[in-house]
Amino acid sequence: MSPPRTSPPRLSPPRRLPEIDPRHDELIPRTGTGSVKWEYRETAPGHGSGLEPVADSDVIPMWVADMDFACPGAVTEAIRRRAGHPIYGYSLPQPGFLDAFCGWAAARHGFRPDPSWVVPTDGIVPDLGLLVRTLLEPGDGVIVHPPVYFPFFGAVVNNRARLAPCPLRRTAAPASGNPYRLDLERFERLAVEPGNRMTILCSPHNPVGRAWTREELRAVARISADAGLIVVSDEIHADLMLEGRPFHPWLSLASADRSRSIVCSAPSKTFNLAGLKLSCLVIPDPDLRERVRRARDRRGFYGVNPLSAAAAEAAWREGGPWLDRVLASLGRNRRLLLRAFARRPGAGARAVPPEATYLAWLDFTGTEIPADRLDDFLVRRARLRLEDGAIFGAEGRGFARMNLACPRPLLERALKRLFAALPGASVLEAVHHAEDAGRAARDRLENA
Ligand SMILES: Cc1ncc(COP(=O)(O)O)c(C=O)c1O
Repeated sequence: MSPPRTSPPRLSPPRRLPEIDPRHDELIPRTGTGSVKWEYRETAPGHGSGLEPVADSDVIPMWVADMDFACPGAVTEAIRRRAGHPIYGYSLPQPGFLDAFCGWAAARHGFRPDPSWVVPTDGIVPDLGLLVRTLLEPGDGVIVHPPVYFPFFGAVVNNRARLAPCPLRRTAAPASGNPYRLDLERFERLAVEPGNRMTILCSPHNPVGRAWTREELRAVARISADAGLIVVSDEIHADLMLEGRPFHPWLSLASADRSRSIVCSAPSKTFNLAGLKLSCLVIPDPDLRERVRRARDRRGFYGVNPLSAAAAEAAWREGGPWLDRVLASLGRNRRLLLRAFARRPGAGARAVPPEATYLAWLDFTGTEIPADRLDDFLVRRARLRLEDGAIFGAEGRGFARMNLACPRPLLERALKRLFAALPGASVLEAVHHAEDAGRAARDRLENA
């Protein structure tokens, strides 16, 4: 008898490193397109509403979270194709849309939601308000983790609920690590406080760039399930994991209580489609889903924009290689940023290394710039428009959020301006220049 065959060890196929798309080094002019980021860069924060656009300015806009990269060609093509049919009436996503959404989640993160769980909507920010108003009683508490994406605050307080802040902790992480952590002890205390009924997680976290580990999420899941909290996991940045990190979908956790879980997802950050206003709520529990669906319809929802639905479906089906190239460019910009800050410790400013998202969280608390003058300093002295950290909660005072999804030459220019404007940095820069000049002169002498 022949010995039992042992199967050869399985080798995973070598993963080809994505290439950086050379087009990501070219700036695509956006003036004249109504871009909030570019045309309102001179005006005070407020996302453009009621403000005057500027046609021309030398301020580099790195605030609003969209990318300066062209979206996938397949998306433009799908919009053109759909636009070729001249009737743009009320539309609902076709079954192919849901298949594409669920297939993308499975391929990228190893977790396939059931298509029946998906409730298409027209933007996560309006969705958050809808969830708070629909699922909570007036005065109920919502636990949020500041510094955090500031519309979370409005979604709570403008919908009759109450904020229960659970600020992130800053640990003494290794020099190259991201120091932010969820404060699980405080979260556990808040979770059982009477009246606190929901938590909104930002996963990965905007603005500090943390990608929560499976262990951290498991702890949140256990605490929330024990306390009966509704968990809203905003996963809009899920596909933007940097340097090959894995993303852990909330619904993939065995300990997550699915009867009280809602995931917010969208193609808008991943594929740079924010203006198309399309998102998906993923709600496994049928009763919860029906309540949310009815509330969405009562708000006046009557289908999705057919161009947006065509765009999203094409992006999920064909956008993988495009996203890999974007992630390579973002990784390169991230490294450039971290190197620039590491070379100038005298400036007193520090960059928190993002693990995910294309947003970098910059710490100016070690400089002499008062927190309430930081935005002014950045616009007037450095000619940069970043997001002032204070809008993300009091914990963000003295910080600013910089959008790295731009051509590398633009980021280089921005970093030069920043360090030229920072008092300690310019002295240091001069020293570096003098050292470089001295070294070059020595080399010339030695080679003469
Ligand atoms: C965490 C988070 N949620 C939601 C949004 C915006 O979602 P939408 O444009 O679908 O309202 C953003 C945009 O930056 C975000 O960072």
